[in-house]
Amino acid sequence: MDFRHQATTVAGVSAFNADALLLLVAGNKLPQDLPKPLAQALQSALKEGDLVLDNGRTLYLGKLAGVKAPRAAVAVAADTAPRAVKAALAQGLAQLKALGGKHLAVWLAGVDRVTAAHAEALTGATGDAVYVYRHTKPSASNGSKLSKVTLLCARADEPAVAQGLKRGAAIVAGVTLAREVANRPGNHCTPTMLGEQAQELGRAMKLKIEVFGRKEIEKLGMGSFLSVAQGSDEPPRFIVLRYDGAPDSEAPVVLVGKGITFDTGGISIKPAGEMDEMKFDMGGAASVLGTFRTIAQLKPKLNLIGLIPTCENMPSGKAVKPGDVVKSLSGQTVEILNTDAEGRLILCDALTYAERFKPRAVVDIATLTGACVIALGHHRSGLFTPHDDLAQALSAAGDAALDPCWRMPVDAEYDEVLKSNFADMANVGPRAGGAITAAMFLKRFAKKLRWAHLDIAGTAYKSGAQKGATGRPVGLLTHFVLAQAGAAAD
Ligand code: BES
Ligand code: MN
Ligand code: ZN
Repeated sequence: MDFRHQATTVAGVSAFNADALLLLVAGNKLPQDLPKPLAQALQSALKEGDLVLDNGRTLYLGKLAGVKAPRAAVAVAADTAPRAVKAALAQGLAQLKALGGKHLAVWLAGVDRVTAAHAEALTGATGDAVYVYRHTKPSASNGSKLSKVTLLCARADEPAVAQGLKRGAAIVAGVTLAREVANRPGNHCTPTMLGEQAQELGRAMKLKIEVFGRKEIEKLGMGSFLSVAQGSDEPPRFIVLRYDGAPDSEAPVVLVGKGITFDTGGISIKPAGEMDEMKFDMGGAASVLGTFRTIAQLKPKLNLIGLIPTCENMPSGKAVKPGDVVKSLSGQTVEILNTDAEGRLILCDALTYAERFKPRAVVDIATLTGACVIALGHHRSGLFTPHDDLAQALSAAGDAALDPCWRMPVDAEYDEVLKSNFADMANVGPRAGGAITAAMFLKRFAKKLRWAHLDIAGTAYKSGAQKGATGRPVGLLTHFVLAQAGAAAD
């Protein structure tokens, strides 16, 4: 998608040459500064009751006299905040994307100052509107010919809009990659294939990629990770991605993504209902790949490392059993009481591996617990960290990216449930507070790190008719990494 901006006057909006014009109005009153032909059309639609100024409403206006674009539509936003604008744009795009045009122009009427965040809202809404999964369903099509979007703005707003579109377009590319990888079924998206995806991304975007196989993972001593992998015929991979945007002397940010390409639960097997959705259990890994795609395009001045432990969690004669004790890379032993709590078992070794980079911050991203979905639903990801500054930075990044998270507690009291008579810790506690217990487990492997954990079990994908990966939290991670680059430059 080609995203552009164009400075224009109000009168210039109706004279702009595009295949379609999407006009956004905010609030429950028509803005004063509407282009004349549009003002007339909207006033009459209001009078006739065809248009209601309610949040999310749209009206297709077709061809209007005095408007150069051969089709126009209006979408109504609750207010002028980027979040409301994005939701309304999504509605408007749904109206227009399937029509004939290639080039869409967008005018945010009533938004006094168009900011970078508004521009990003437009790129995000457009990316979502036109993405179609086709890898194993080539017949699928969204019917959209849309290939170019121009955001019309006032001259004074141009620099911010240009920056927002550039950032937003890069995020769309990253989100699209994350969705594409995560949507692929378990028999296509294997650990081997994830390794190949990383290599391909490395070649395309000039990133350094290393992919370790079972032998090398054994040599490293990742006994906890390997215990999950041992039940599957698919060989595991440990993927290391590097983006070098600053001198070697600068401490990197490390992103760690859970890459369970299918989670059956192992011997503690899951019930059959919706088990197919456990193909999305590599959503964390997908978001790391997506974020690297975005960062490699934006080229900020910082060093970024990605770590992806990836394997299947399967039951078999070789699978790890409840009660088995394994030794992690950190040297700590773990009693595996439930083989379905496998995410933490692969992440803990990756966190220990992260220590060697002496990072300034480590963020792990994982579809880790059903309990997090119960706690927060599908809107905000769970954020766990003992470091207030990191919590602040990640929360702010999530808000700015319209990819929000919510901080959860990691008080020492929550750690007690992990006690085991047979190892340094158990891998599960009781049902209550399950998302926190998982974070407490990881925290035991992050003592030497400035670490945060994002539980994306509720946000990485959608169920039901809309079933599919969301590409979250690529937006959040991108904003976080860019802010870190800014802080490093200070
Ligand atoms: N991948 C699941 C978590 C999950 C559940 C993600 C639902 C998305 C939707 C994870 O590996 C898991 O099975 N967690 C268990 C932990 C339990 C055994 C302590 C869970 O949440 O039930
Ligand atoms: Mn599991
Ligand atoms: Zn899992």
